[in-house]
Amino acid sequence: MNRNQYNVLLILIMVLCFLGCVTNKKSGSQMEVMKEISVDQRVDSLLAKMTLEEKVGQMNLYNGFWDVTGPTPQGGSAKLKYEHLKKGWVGAMLNIRGVENVKEVQRIAVEETRLGIPLLIGFDVIHGYKTLSPIPLAESASWDLEAIRNSARVAATEASAAGINWTFAPMVDISRDPRWGRVMEGGGEDPYLGSKIAKARVLGFQGNDLTKNNTIAACAKHFAAYGFSEAGKEYNTVDIGTSTLYNTVLPPFKAAADSGVKTFMNSFNELNGVPVTGSEFLQRDILKGAWDFDGFVVSDWASINEIIFWGHAKDKRQAAIIAARAGSDLDMEGHVYIQELVQLVQEGVVQESIIDDAVRRILKVKFELGLFDNPYTYCDETNEKENIGHTKHHEAVLDVAKKSIVLLKNQGNLLPLQKEGQKIALIGPLAADKNSPLGSWRIASDDHTAVSVLEGMQQYTGNTLTHHKGVELVVGNTAFIEEVQINTTNRTGIDEAVAAAQTVDVVVMVLGEHGFQSGEGRSRTHLDLPGLQQELLEAVYAVNQNIVLVLNNGRPLAIEWATEHIPAIVEGWQLGTQSGNAIAQVLYGDYNPSGKLPMTFPRNVGQIPIYYNYKSTGRPVDTNDNVFWSHYTDVDNTPLYPFGHGLSYTTFQYSNFKVHGTEFKIGDTIKVTVDVTNTGDYDGKEVVQLYIRDLFGSITRPVRELKGFELVSLKKGETKTIEFKLSNKELGFFNNQGEYIVEAGDFEVFVGGSSITSLQSSFTLK
Ligand code: NOJ
Repeated sequence: MNRNQYNVLLILIMVLCFLGCVTNKKSGSQMEVMKEISVDQRVDSLLAKMTLEEKVGQMNLYNGFWDVTGPTPQGGSAKLKYEHLKKGWVGAMLNIRGVENVKEVQRIAVEETRLGIPLLIGFDVIHGYKTLSPIPLAESASWDLEAIRNSARVAATEASAAGINWTFAPMVDISRDPRWGRVMEGGGEDPYLGSKIAKARVLGFQGNDLTKNNTIAACAKHFAAYGFSEAGKEYNTVDIGTSTLYNTVLPPFKAAADSGVKTFMNSFNELNGVPVTGSEFLQRDILKGAWDFDGFVVSDWASINEIIFWGHAKDKRQAAIIAARAGSDLDMEGHVYIQELVQLVQEGVVQESIIDDAVRRILKVKFELGLFDNPYTYCDETNEKENIGHTKHHEAVLDVAKKSIVLLKNQGNLLPLQKEGQKIALIGPLAADKNSPLGSWRIASDDHTAVSVLEGMQQYTGNTLTHHKGVELVVGNTAFIEEVQINTTNRTGIDEAVAAAQTVDVVVMVLGEHGFQSGEGRSRTHLDLPGLQQELLEAVYAVNQNIVLVLNNGRPLAIEWATEHIPAIVEGWQLGTQSGNAIAQVLYGDYNPSGKLPMTFPRNVGQIPIYYNYKSTGRPVDTNDNVFWSHYTDVDNTPLYPFGHGLSYTTFQYSNFKVHGTEFKIGDTIKVTVDVTNTGDYDGKEVVQLYIRDLFGSITRPVRELKGFELVSLKKGETKTIEFKLSNKELGFFNNQGEYIVEAGDFEVFVGGSSITSLQSSFTLK
């Protein structure tokens, strides 16, 4: 098409739009003409017709009418929201779900407003919609990018069938602090693994064609550094240096941007004195500047208002100025933009070009989702009925649940359990629990719908199985927005559990945190087994030491006593709908565990933050048998379980580890190979991990950095050669100006089954 033809077409489009072509009442030929021109052109022509009020309306995101995922909204009655919807002053809504409900608000936006601009319908689809996958931290322990992508695909398929076209996921915040309740939502502590997972999740949600009715826009959150909240306390100050920001915090966000994520969410924290919702540095300079991100940024829930409470703006007016200038495009349930921006533009305080830029970005995503071509594309009742809770989704979440389980300890090969002739006592408050394993963030799923460990184990009928709660974990009911009340007084079930343990061959104990003890607003200072569970564990241990401890938890726990005493420990996280089946299949050896920890487990809370990629310090070792080195006097420097740790029922031997060469030039690709042999009695899978250490740097480098991994399946006796490539992408780092550099020098390379592997080689970069 030449320039003249294009101009004629554009005029034609504008006339068509004027006649109402953006509603769903377009004729077939109008639609074809519109599809021929690019999204940017369509956005521009629509923007040209919008009033200032309508533009600001697009920057307004309202919570719906039932579910609440933040503090009670201030000043936003349902009546007002409907009025604004009808005026075209709402660009998006969250927490509206179900085809019938979505259709109704979409109908108002499309059919009752002047321009008929469709709504984005956002929802926290964090680990599934109705059918739940493991919580994201658990899923990350699979190191299985295909499975993670597929789990996001399932989530998108169900959510989109319920009318949702935008998920507030993935959360890609790196965190080194298990006190922070939201570690359950992320990929763990490592930026390399976190980046791979970010990409897998974005691709899973968005698919390869966003206009399809089963793909939804993803949202990389929380930009940025929320995972570094001081002392792991929720919504707290973050004060980190540029090196941590560039090398640890930002990489997964960059990976999400590079994978085409359509939206970003900023966050509640401040970073080095500036609330990030008002950070030009993060949103304009880095995200929309250096990274050239052309999607939009949504604020977190009323985080524009919170700029005031941080003490960075004196009122809503100033908060609106700061946030809009900084590049926060869409105001989530803050009511600030809709109240302030029109006047601020009219007074010339905020430039209209800022508004235009934000609206352009928002409209673009709507066009890319195909909402202008069919605003009801996600509103198909048949699809809703057929897809939500589909059997194939149960199969998929079971698959990823098994892959997420980590075998922490298996002394004397107590596991797998024999399938026949055994007497087993299943003990613990979480053993028969059908609610807690669903985890936090599961607003649309039904309570008490997880398969419990008891139900999973009952599938295996060759043994005698009895069940005893021992103690209650929580008092009363728990719900998403309530504080969980822990039982610390009721010991009435302990005697019965102990008596049962006395008479059996093996005890399986299911202990840990309730699903609602982690997630947003659930920071904790104690990371041991909550309530009376430790007491129960020790009481049972006193009569029968043949214990398999199955942990259910949303974060690393400090279980030092258990690690010392209990022979077998299985990390069973909160694994979602199929939880109990997954755990039972692992316990009975029908699935050989292959998960590896995505986050370090501390010995005690005092070690936090503890992470594998720490810096050497100037005094890393005790040379003179005195106190003057970097350590604690009361606990070892090592973690309880290191990052990357996870056992299997088989064993793997590493041999022929080679770096192919000793000296390389910057820019070369370095080949590293290692043979891995399955030397045990079971077929199995191993996550082969590669770490580097850059020995000297202009910015000090961590003692180890993950720079490659491969999940490899090996039959009994089988050997495979695993090859890694190291190039500039893996060997460099960001300096304190945010520039990526690769420096000459000596490197060590480590390969093995965890971050503390001792298999080591080296090379020099000239
Ligand atoms: C607040 C949370 O921080 C964010 O992650 C979530 O998406 C929003 N609420 C909406 O529920």
